[in-house]
Amino acid sequence: MMKPVYLAILSAAIWASACTHAKDPINDPGTNDICFERDVLPIFQSNCAMSGCHDAATRADGVQLTDYSSIMNTGDVKPGKPMDSDVYEEIVEGKMPPYGYSKLTQTQIDLLNKWISEGAKNGVDCPSTCDSNTFTYSGAVSKIMTQRCVGCHSGSNPSGGIDLSSHAAVKAQAARGALMGSILGKAPWKFMPQGGAALSSCEVAQIRKWIDAGSPND
Ligand code: HEC
Repeated sequence: MMKPVYLAILSAAIWASACTHAKDPINDPGTNDICFERDVLPIFQSNCAMSGCHDAATRADGVQLTDYSSIMNTGDVKPGKPMDSDVYEEIVEGKMPPYGYSKLTQTQIDLLNKWISEGAKNGVDCPSTCDSNTFTYSGAVSKIMTQRCVGCHSGSNPSGGIDLSSHAAVKAQAARGALMGSILGKAPWKFMPQGGAALSSCEVAQIRKWIDAGSPND
């Protein structure tokens, strides 16, 4: 039996995410366009803004990469000019993320390039492209991991000693309850992604359905 307080938190979370993904008829960027909040910000939050690196407390080298204005200012983003934008240059030259952390995927690098080339706009309240009827590992779960978790949970020294960069590793965390527990922030698990926005209710549903199906490598 779920405690009422968990139900209250859960329904508040679902309500909040439904609300942030509501379509705005005027500023709707369309699902094919890059949207900062949906597509770009999670890359920075899960690959750069970890504690000890570019979070608000550490600001390594004076660079903070936690939200639009800090990314634009301390990351020195020049709209329209990816190669003149310090933060992009560091990534594309392979200097960042540093040794021991996993590099961004080519898809993520291409996306950042496109975002800056198209003017580095601050798209918010973007329509969700998530479909909770898709819940395969390759089509849903691994994409969520890559975008939201793997930046901290991979490489030679993954956060909390937890790797989430392969099917076997994600399945192992699902089996011990840590995967669902952490994305819901349900005790005794710490809320994840650390320092980032909660997964959407659709993403949570995809992961839940995949776990219920036996966490297959599909
Ligand atoms: C910005 C870095 C960062 C991101 C992004 C991140 N984590 Fe973590 N995660 C951590 C750190 C640091 C710890 C260790 C926390 C501690 O022990 O205090 C941790 C611990 C965990 C744990 C163990 C929790 C516990 O209570 O033992 C799980 C499970 C986990 N993360 C899953 C995830 C998942 C799933 C995602 C993506 C949805 C994610 N993390 C994204 C930094 C991150």
